[in-house]
Amino acid sequence: MGNKNNYYKETKLMHAGRNPDDYFGVVNPPICRTSTILYKDLDAYFDPNTKFRYGRVSNPLSNAFEEAISELEGGFHAITASSGMAAISTTLLSFVKAGDHLLMVDSCYPPTRFFANKQLRAYGVEIEYYDPMIGAGIKDLIRDNTAVIYLESPGSATFEVQDVPAIVKIAKAHDILTIMDNTYSAGVLFRPLEHGVNISVQSAAKYLGGHSDVNLGVAVADTETHYKILKSCAMNLGTCAGAEDLYLSLRGFRTLEMRMNYAQKNMHSILAWFEKRKEVQCLYSPILETNRGYDLWKRDFSGANGVFSVLFRPEYQREDITRFVDSLALFPVGSSWGGYESLIQPQDMKSYRSNWTEEGFFLRFQIGNENSKDLIDDLEQGILNLKA
Ligand SMILES: Cc1ncc(COP(=O)(O)O)c(C=O)c1O
Repeated sequence: MGNKNNYYKETKLMHAGRNPDDYFGVVNPPICRTSTILYKDLDAYFDPNTKFRYGRVSNPLSNAFEEAISELEGGFHAITASSGMAAISTTLLSFVKAGDHLLMVDSCYPPTRFFANKQLRAYGVEIEYYDPMIGAGIKDLIRDNTAVIYLESPGSATFEVQDVPAIVKIAKAHDILTIMDNTYSAGVLFRPLEHGVNISVQSAAKYLGGHSDVNLGVAVADTETHYKILKSCAMNLGTCAGAEDLYLSLRGFRTLEMRMNYAQKNMHSILAWFEKRKEVQCLYSPILETNRGYDLWKRDFSGANGVFSVLFRPEYQREDITRFVDSLALFPVGSSWGGYESLIQPQDMKSYRSNWTEEGFFLRFQIGNENSKDLIDDLEQGILNLKA
């Protein structure tokens, strides 16, 4: 085999985290269910180089997944967790302590905000929310006790794209750690560590798993030092991942880019359809010139995924939106995104954002891998029900 570091991303996605020779030629690393791992003798128990010691801490399958995602994101190594939220909370707990100041992007995934507001504040961490478009202006918010700047780009639901290099530059100058939620990009559309971010976190329940049937989270560290801090906190918290979820998400690597490309293509068609609808007040997607950070998305990202949001005109009340949504055959209401089927989820923006003043019903659309003509036909018939 050639030097795997030189392969293009598509090739890396086919090979990352697997070595068939380890399993008698079996193509995919098999499900490994284990708590106890036996040592061959007492010397092996005391040998610091013994690779696998206890299933919760590390096992052949969790290690295979962690190697694969570290290769994709260009990091030193990773930890895996039972969900994206578990990876996020473990990562934050690894790098903040009582008395620290945490700068958190206002457009973060709402449960990340709830965790910071409830748990971290109770442990004595000061949380300050900053505008996702702040860029280098973040320097004005830095205090002596600022320990971490947390980014998520594009932001949840409204997809603001942050100036990651500008923020990282300020963070490095002040010796502040940066963590970025990279779930939107799945490690494919944007690689935070290449831009100097220290830790990239993701929910693998989205595009990595890709089939709405796994709960898994991952955090990739840039250096051995940061990895060791992360791993030790993960071990102390008991953070680990289920075998089946690891297996399915690692298998998801092989089709990840194809699924994302197809979802992106479909998303373009559906978004174009919404652009012509008079019922719409505003559309949110990084690919729109009207979106905050559009130029940064063009500069830094290699594409978009299948998710966007629609703010309807304020004259449409909850009962109007209900008639529209409930009449759709191909857009069930459901949380999450990155799976193969299209979904709709309402977002209560006023309770998630510091200064949300827009009126109107807000729906997030996840576009799947159906034929876009069927999706548009469904929307065409559904929109007729918006007004009674
Ligand atoms: C951007 C983002 N980050 C993190 C998460 C949390 O992932 P999980 O549901 O696996 O805990 C989600 C879930 O929707 C998300 O959208």
